[in-house]
Amino acid sequence: MATTMFNRTAVNSMAVAVGSTLRNATRATTKAAPAQACRTVITRDGVLQNRTALMAASRFGAQQRFISSSSSSAPVGDGTTQIPNFGDYMKTSSDDTSRAFAYMMVGTTGVLTMAAAKATVHDFLSNMSASADVLALAKVEVDLAAIPEGKNIVVKWRGKPVFIRHRTVGEIDEANAVSLTDLRDPQPDSARVQQPEWLVMLGICTHLGCVPIGEAGDYGGWFCPCHGSHYDISGRIRKGPAPLNLEVPQYAIDGDKLTIG
Ligand code: FES
Repeated sequence: MATTMFNRTAVNSMAVAVGSTLRNATRATTKAAPAQACRTVITRDGVLQNRTALMAASRFGAQQRFISSSSSSAPVGDGTTQIPNFGDYMKTSSDDTSRAFAYMMVGTTGVLTMAAAKATVHDFLSNMSASADVLALAKVEVDLAAIPEGKNIVVKWRGKPVFIRHRTVGEIDEANAVSLTDLRDPQPDSARVQQPEWLVMLGICTHLGCVPIGEAGDYGGWFCPCHGSHYDISGRIRKGPAPLNLEVPQYAIDGDKLTIG
């Protein structure tokens, strides 16, 4: 009986001492490894149990704390903390391979960006350019064989009237006989025609833009009734307020085909 009481007292004392020690150890170690601080306690019944581990586990639930380390599964502290292996997430390729891949991605992105910019600019310029119907009006073709000698016709080119005269030999000689000193806008007749018998010029008065009348005026050419400008048989200004000769457009003659523009 005495032996039993002694044993029970001794066990209780040991339990109190060990419990106090374990509580202190638990407070100190739960921050680092709460579920692994202490493994063994002695109950009143003298049964050894993993009480601290159970208390820590119940306090922090299923929360697991790991310490990251470059070494895999290295023990920490009391050797019970397991560090997970992050090796599967680590880069295995060399730096040269990564750099080449980065260069390839940068280059590919640059090429795609340039291609997109080129397509955008091309579409913008295509929309800004003249349409097919406008381009068709940019040039006018005239059959010169249908114009008798000594006659004028007027065609429309880019919204403007164009005078075409089939001049006679007498008119050509008259145009060449004029001295340049008598002209306000000195220009020889040869500089205004490609073929002497065909005179092609814009039918717009150089004063304020009226359309002169053919075969009229004091010089046998064109007369502008708006303010009284007189042009000769070469379309040069001879009298009146107009400052310049009638303008000669760009044209080409191929046989009997005249192309203006
Ligand atoms: S517009 Fe022709 S003379 Fe004035």
